[in-house]
Amino acid sequence: MAHTATARAHPNIAFIKYWGNADEKLRLPANPSISMNLDGLHTETRVSWDDSLASDMLLLNGVEESGRALHRVSLHLDVMRRWLGLTAKARVESVNNFPMGTGIASSASSFAALTLAAAAASGKPISERELTTLARLGSGSAARSIPAGFVEWHTGKAHEESYAESVAGPEHWALMDVVAILSAAHKEVGSREGHTSANSSDLQGARVAGAARRLALCKQAILERNFAALADVVELDSNLMHAVMMTSQPPLFYWLPGTLTIMDKVRRWRAAGLRVCYTLDAGPNVHCICVREDAETVRKELSGLSEVVDVRLAAPGGAAQIVAS
Ligand code: DP6
Repeated sequence: MAHTATARAHPNIAFIKYWGNADEKLRLPANPSISMNLDGLHTETRVSWDDSLASDMLLLNGVEESGRALHRVSLHLDVMRRWLGLTAKARVESVNNFPMGTGIASSASSFAALTLAAAAASGKPISERELTTLARLGSGSAARSIPAGFVEWHTGKAHEESYAESVAGPEHWALMDVVAILSAAHKEVGSREGHTSANSSDLQGARVAGAARRLALCKQAILERNFAALADVVELDSNLMHAVMMTSQPPLFYWLPGTLTIMDKVRRWRAAGLRVCYTLDAGPNVHCICVREDAETVRKELSGLSEVVDVRLAAPGGAAQIVAS
């Protein structure tokens, strides 16, 4: 008999970035990070533990996968099997409601939904904190897609200590992420390779040394809803991560010319009074974080730029949740 559950999780955008691991195998991050879940965007994943299956199966957006995607999911199912005390193989069906390769990372929402669905389908009770540590082993940033709203991921020195928790719910602050999509092409170098090469940059040590201080400033700005303070530290932290990327061996340049154009515009818009700042992940697209009152103006401005192929809006999102059993 199959034991089934379906979970839904949002992707997240980091305000203080995770880049580089202190322990690659356990995915203990080099520094703490903080992010906001993205409402309206989600991955929905159905897991069925099934004794009659000879091997794990993965359907991604309706297409059966056999290569790298299945391998990564199967490795994570091994982690879940060990933790849940199961031997059965699983059938995994996963659907994203946002296109992959838009610069909105799908690994965070995918591994958060997979972890929650796999645990729920086993019937074994599991705390939110434990879920975050397990999701982390699948993809670091997935730990932050388990709790609700604005989420901090603690570094930790051991598996159980490296967990994520909500610092404020999604209703705490009406921020918006207005994402300017410059290219729908898949990124050439994924985050995983990037984390491994982070230490080859002379700048990584300095970035990591200041991360806890920046995180404290960012957290305070969130708790006090202080947009000016948030903007300063969010842009600084994104610039620092990209400086590390560009000075790693091999160097990683994720920016397109349009990326720099938008970063410049955002700074000008803010100087002119709009409450908006930028942050970038491992890709060329620009996440413009703004207050809700200014989101429509930012969206219009971005849509008018020739470099921008699409614009998406997301408010703060809730926790990963079970949507069917
Ligand atoms: C630049 O969590 O995608 O988005 O653990 O290898 O899956 P893996 O990496 P991932 O790295 C995220 C990197 C980032 C910054 C961030 O989200 O904190």
